[in-house]
Amino acid sequence: TTKKKLIAGNWKMHGTLVSVRQLAEAVIDGVEKDASLLDRCDFLVCPTFIHIPAVRAVIDHNRGALRVGGQDCSPHETGAFTGDIAAPMLKDVGCSAVILGHSERRQHHAEGDQTVAAKAVQAHQAGLMTIICVGETEAQRVAGQEKTIVKQQLDGSIPAGATASNTVIAYEPVWAIGTGKTATPADVAAMHAFIRGILVGKMADGAGVRILYGGSVKPENAGELLAIPDVDGALIGGASLKADQYLAIAKAV
Ligand code: G3H
Repeated sequence: TTKKKLIAGNWKMHGTLVSVRQLAEAVIDGVEKDASLLDRCDFLVCPTFIHIPAVRAVIDHNRGALRVGGQDCSPHETGAFTGDIAAPMLKDVGCSAVILGHSERRQHHAEGDQTVAAKAVQAHQAGLMTIICVGETEAQRVAGQEKTIVKQQLDGSIPAGATASNTVIAYEPVWAIGTGKTATPADVAAMHAFIRGILVGKMADGAGVRILYGGSVKPENAGELLAIPDVDGALIGGASLKADQYLAIAKAV
């Protein structure tokens, strides 16, 4: 099946008010210059919470071409949860999506699969598309456990009510994130096919769920990675902070 590729930028904890506006403007300019890009790809950027309204304002001013999302949300709808951001708040400020269960959340905030699933329930209720991240660590791969781990994460993190329209999966081998190391095309192909099988078994429209690859995606490797069957887009960290690199990745589709 040919799905529109999702080119998602995770800006992580980077940027200033000025720099995020410039980056969003440069991305929109680039997308609008090459109209065929929008036929092949959907574009989403995920700034820090505090920068979302600024990016949203740039998008509104330019009439679209780019969507904005959060990098996390609370597993609760509202209440006494100091410092947290609820899914309906993301929706309210103009987000259409949210990244959940990123390995940096799993690692630094001890997020388990159950928490990720609870967050996804809130996000879906708020009308957000979730990008649910899974991926093994280097030690787990060396031990040959990558498929067991990824299956466990998918089983635990994807909530009831997930569909191809509200859920995207991102496979990010932890050892490939921000390291410059990329999984080999054969590794990526094998894992994405494995994930597809699980999604098809789990969801009525599992064949339609987009599966992104993430981990040191850059213009030089994007063509090869995005041509792999069941690689339906990319979740891009470092390279998404440079408009020319982010756009070059989409142009490689
Ligand atoms: O969410 C993005 C991933 O963690 C990949 O980051 O492209 O800097 O390796 P990276």
